[in-house]
Amino acid sequence: MKIIEARNYHDMSQKAAQFIIEKVNLLASPVLGLATGGTPLGTYKYLREDHLNHHTSYSHVYTVNLDEYVGIPPDNEHSYFSYMKKQLFDHIDIPRSHTHLPDGMAKDLSAECHRYEDLIKLLGGIDLQLLGIGMNGHIGFNEPGTPFSSKTHLVELTSSTRKANARYFDSLATVPFQAVTMGISTIMESKQILLLVSGAKKAEIMAKLLNEETNKDTPASVLKRHQDVIIIADSDALALVKERSRSY
Ligand code: F6R
Repeated sequence: MKIIEARNYHDMSQKAAQFIIEKVNLLASPVLGLATGGTPLGTYKYLREDHLNHHTSYSHVYTVNLDEYVGIPPDNEHSYFSYMKKQLFDHIDIPRSHTHLPDGMAKDLSAECHRYEDLIKLLGGIDLQLLGIGMNGHIGFNEPGTPFSSKTHLVELTSSTRKANARYFDSLATVPFQAVTMGISTIMESKQILLLVSGAKKAEIMAKLLNEETNKDTPASVLKRHQDVIIIADSDALALVKERSRSY
């Protein structure tokens, strides 16, 4: 794992956006795995600005998102589809048919999970997967204990994840109980992974991730087994990693 230290959230976002832009310019038909949540908001903002000012084109880009809530229609403001439209897709020249998220409204969710796995294969796999990390170490919605062999699957959200995501909803009661997420093995099959981490609230999980052996209780620790992972983390998120390594 390569770790790049950013000064703060803006610096992390700028560095991440630059990394993505280089990939978009380099590859003939890049497949980007995308994440939602608070962490990539700044990255998407820089991508929007860059498209406006420097005209980076996304007409040849394909995207697959990590996850989607179950039971929230795509046009509902809380769906991850709406998030992606608002933060990125509506502002760049990517064809709508190139953008993919799991269908959380599918009648047969198990068939939907298979469809999504097949789709990723059909696209030729993910060239660059963008990830955030949950405070419990989850990646996508793969909560602690998820088998490393998991493919795209239906998950019951833990109460800690529901609470963490309640800030985007009117109340905790309206946060969905289920989601469809890429599995850990789906994520690990990506050719390259870019993990973004920001803020003091992520310092504890970063220290755990970097100082402990790979284990199922910290799903993100599986990334140590991938040959091409880049972590862009800001100083606040790295504070405890440094403090603990100094005390050895
Ligand atoms: C988002 C996702 C999640 C988030 C994680 C961190 O698509 O799959 O794993 O990346 O929960 O969320 P934030 O960035 O809000 O701290």
